[in-house]
Amino acid sequence: MEETFISSKPCAKEEEIIDLNQITLRSFNLSDLDDVMVWQTDEKVAKFWGEPYTSKDQGINFIENIESEYLLQCKAICHNDHVIGCIKLFSSSLHDKSRYKCAEIGYVLASKYWGKGIATCAVKQMVMVTFAFSEFSYLERLEALVDVDNVGSQRVLEKVGFQKEGVLRKYVFFKGKSRDMIMFSLLSTDIQL
Ligand SMILES: CC(C)(COP(=O)(O)OP(=O)(O)OC[C@H]1O[C@@H](n2cnc3c(N)ncnc32)[C@H](O)[C@@H]1OP(=O)(O)O)[C@@H](O)C(=O)NCCC(=O)NCCS
Repeated sequence: MEETFISSKPCAKEEEIIDLNQITLRSFNLSDLDDVMVWQTDEKVAKFWGEPYTSKDQGINFIENIESEYLLQCKAICHNDHVIGCIKLFSSSLHDKSRYKCAEIGYVLASKYWGKGIATCAVKQMVMVTFAFSEFSYLERLEALVDVDNVGSQRVLEKVGFQKEGVLRKYVFFKGKSRDMIMFSLLSTDIQL
């Protein structure tokens, strides 16, 4: 079933061009392929995201196989229903809900849209929907691992209310080098639902 989540709180600042009330989350369709390729082939995006795609087949594979074993949710970030990014919730402990009530959040936005508050708005929507309304409302903790040099992403999490827990030294091997990562978390009890 197609889902559209609309923020109940406006997050826009007056001087911004993009109306953040037009930022919604929905499922991906194959017709979104060209939009997906925009950020998946962008070297700027890839710096902290992963290897850029080199073929449309990779984009098709991404859209067609979004439901992988560890993915709880993967939504398109849309502006006026036009896909400009992606936000996902995943967990390696999906099969043991009685023991683990924690999931990790990840997000990406086409570089043309950076710096307008859009990722912050999308993360807020995902947090609210997850803790309050979804089948994943059993989750008590959302966490995010951010490269120490990814200042923009750290700021997004801080603005949403995530707490910085500490630095995990040489935690992720990425682009030929072990990277220090910052662990952020948000508990369901940290926010007003
Ligand atoms: C990280 C990312 C999602 C942020 O998206 P965004 O829509 O630009 O984020 P927002 O506009 O909501 O907030 C960004 C904040 O970081 C700040 N920021 C961005 N780059 C910064 C930098 N180099 N130094 C200091 N602050 C920076 C912005 O000023 C803004 O804060 P402000 O509102 O207090 O001014 C986007 O840059 C992206 O897609 N990057 C590539 C993928 C990625 O890194 N994903 C996260 C993996 S953990």
